[in-house]
Amino acid sequence: MQTANIKVSSLSQSSNELSKPCVVIIGGTSGIGLALAKKHLALGWQIVVVGSSSEKIQRLNKEQPRISTLQCDITDDNERRQLFEQLEGYKFERLIYCAGWYLNERTSYLNQQDSAYMLAVNLQAFQAIFAWASEQLKINNRHNKTDLNGNDQNPSLVCLSSIAGTINYPYASLYAKCKRAMIVTASAYRLALKPFNINVNCIALGYVDTQTLRDLNHGDASHKPFIMTQAAAVEHIMKAIADNLELAVFPKSMRYLTRALDKTPKRVLNWVMHKRLDK
Ligand SMILES: NC(=O)c1ccc[n+]([C@@H]2O[C@H](COP(=O)([O-])OP(=O)(O)OC[C@H]3O[C@@H](n4cnc5c(N)ncnc54)[C@H](OP(=O)(O)O)[C@@H]3O)[C@@H](O)[C@H]2O)c1
Repeated sequence: MQTANIKVSSLSQSSNELSKPCVVIIGGTSGIGLALAKKHLALGWQIVVVGSSSEKIQRLNKEQPRISTLQCDITDDNERRQLFEQLEGYKFERLIYCAGWYLNERTSYLNQQDSAYMLAVNLQAFQAIFAWASEQLKINNRHNKTDLNGNDQNPSLVCLSSIAGTINYPYASLYAKCKRAMIVTASAYRLALKPFNINVNCIALGYVDTQTLRDLNHGDASHKPFIMTQAAAVEHIMKAIADNLELAVFPKSMRYLTRALDKTPKRVLNWVMHKRLDK
């Protein structure tokens, strides 16, 4: 049996911290998740981020001591159980699932290990965490909340899908299929949690200029179509949450392109994707 490895850092909660709304960001130790963590911090939230890499966590603890960190491999059942126990101490109002694992483009078929990990991070851990978090939000938020202007301040579950998940075609990659399943799952949770006044928002992003995407492209991802900055992605995501959108697809240019592709006859689309992806 694998030994659980969860490590907690900077998790002491002062009374000042306790009075702030709390957001948990799964996959918040780098890229878009970290950018969202910094944005919430600037808006006065208490932040807890989760990631598996001890190097990233150590760096983050030094650079951002006001962000609490939890080290956990969310694909490991034991570690995930311990993570849930740790997080139960937080009466969080928002959980954002940013964790993901992707490759540059599909060049060939995945080996057994990569295939299992792809499914585990992008779909199985997401489902387990959404199932647990929705129960937590029901417990933590028994009363309707309003802000000073009387507007609803419902708790929310948010997940980062991909524009790849918005197109339905037979030749889709495992990553795209996981992200597509995420969109459908989030939609079911949204309906199921409506009577509990819990919002569910799914974000389908086009290319975002993160370090991971750059690393997969020899240090430069600027050739990716309609690539956007992390700051632009964060603004879109925050607005989608504030507007309580079921599915936010951006940037607009990518949305139009994928809509057109989705209307293309499947046989043609399949052929195009074969030519485009199998390099
Ligand atoms: N960048 C893009 O162009 C783009 C486009 C569409 C959608 N997305 C989606 O946006 C999300 C963030 O992407 P990104 O580019 O910002 O990538 P990133 O910097 O690699 O962020 C991924 C995050 O997930 C965490 N993570 C991965 N595996 C984990 C595991 N087993 N256990 C715990 N945490 C784990 C990583 O932490 P550790 O490394 O510490 O584990 C990291 O915090 C992903 O879901 C991705 O699919 C990105």
